[in-house]
Amino acid sequence: MQSKEMHLLVTDHDGQEHKLEALEGWRVMEVIRDWGLPIKAECGGACSCATCHVYVDNEWLPKLVPPNDEEIDRLDGAFFVESNSRLACQLLVTPEMDGMRLTLAPGTE
Ligand code: FES
Repeated sequence: MQSKEMHLLVTDHDGQEHKLEALEGWRVMEVIRDWGLPIKAECGGACSCATCHVYVDNEWLPKLVPPNDEEIDRLDGAFFVESNSRLACQLLVTPEMDGMRLTLAPGTE
């Protein structure tokens, strides 16, 4: 079965926006990393490093699954956390997220 092609709009640490093709079911962190943008993601998606920290544009937040306790705990220990902070490894791409804007947080490059 072919997944529907979608895009994420990701702003890097230099303020430049990139339109990245994404497939349903991928982790947002994997999309960013596989397209070559600088995101450390040191733990590989295990929700234990917070180096995949991103800011999701506020209008898109309601479309996301809320963070679980593990993600909230991890963000508690991260730097530069804002109300729209999420860990990109905990976000699975869904059709509702097509066109979503997010920004790489400081310290993740
Ligand atoms: S990659 Fe480590 S918490 Fe997301």
